[in-house]
Amino acid sequence: MNYNIGLLKGDGIGPEIVSAAVKVLRKVGEKYGHTFNFTEYLIGGIAIDTVGEGLPKETVEGCLASDSVLLGAVGGPKWDTLPGDKRPEKALLGIRAAMELYTNLRPAKLYPALKDASPLRTDIVAKGFDIMMVRELTGGIYFGERGRREGKYGPEAYDTEAYSVMEIERIAKVAFETAMKRNKRVISVDKANVLESSRLWRETVHRIAKDYPEVECTDMLVDNTAMQLVRNPAQFDVVVTSNMFGDILSDEASQITGSIGMLASASLGDTTRGLYEPIHGSAPDIAGQNKANPIATILSAAMMLRYSFSLMEEADCIEEAVNKVLDKGYRTADLAMGQDIPVLSCTEITEKILEEI
Ligand code: IPM
Ligand code: MG
Repeated sequence: MNYNIGLLKGDGIGPEIVSAAVKVLRKVGEKYGHTFNFTEYLIGGIAIDTVGEGLPKETVEGCLASDSVLLGAVGGPKWDTLPGDKRPEKALLGIRAAMELYTNLRPAKLYPALKDASPLRTDIVAKGFDIMMVRELTGGIYFGERGRREGKYGPEAYDTEAYSVMEIERIAKVAFETAMKRNKRVISVDKANVLESSRLWRETVHRIAKDYPEVECTDMLVDNTAMQLVRNPAQFDVVVTSNMFGDILSDEASQITGSIGMLASASLGDTTRGLYEPIHGSAPDIAGQNKANPIATILSAAMMLRYSFSLMEEADCIEEAVNKVLDKGYRTADLAMGQDIPVLSCTEITEKILEEI
């Protein structure tokens, strides 16, 4: 088969890690007889510098015409002083919205080989964990009404969290469907003791839960969830939550796995076209130095094969290659944790992964 993949390399380490994932996809294509065609489009700071806007029309059109899209990262100090609606991050939100990708799947699992890299106590990591974070991606406070105005204490700024029943229903369904293929447990995270939008969230999730009697559905307040993630991560299977809570909790979940450099994500809508990206950022401090860990992007490419193209065996092949490389003790700087072991560069660890495919 032939697949057309849009590439959004973006800023910082984006180009290095996307190039690594492209090499892996090409190798998998050779092995299984698929052709992956890649077309690059500009997004983020590089797009601002090149064509004057973070999300050019060609990028949106190109992504919508692709079978699926792989993204590196956007943003960096160079663009940090731009007004909010001109920032590279706005382009990322824009492409998620334009592609109608309301679901963000962020798996956080502990690789046995990386147990020592986790900041959690050994007795906690000993139990292992495998969490699928289902984050709502095109609603909530990220997309609500915002602005500046005169308030009670003078000038103020506001952002609004709003969720419709429809938006909650569709993300809840994704969570329950996901749980049916896993351990049949959903924890729905909200702040229903304070927020009205969370109360609607909770009511709606419970209504959808009735259609999935086999799935155990529990509510958890977001502050408690932040605590439980470090206290006992093994209790989680599927976590479903709003855009902002999901943003925050997925960084926490990634860190307890040992490195944010390992965590992949898939953004999906109602079609098979998705946007796949590592959950980490553009790491401007190490950009262009061949030091970045490409594994999160490589695993994102594996998610693309699985969720967009239904190439399960091919996806497994990439994940197994990554596992083998980690089991053999190969580490990038972020995974070495100051241990006295040889550290591989981005291209070197990519070569090791290619050898296992
Ligand atoms: C993420 C990022 C983005 C988000 C930023 C860069 C807009 O933090 O994908 O987690 O908040 O969604
Ligand atoms: Mg984030």
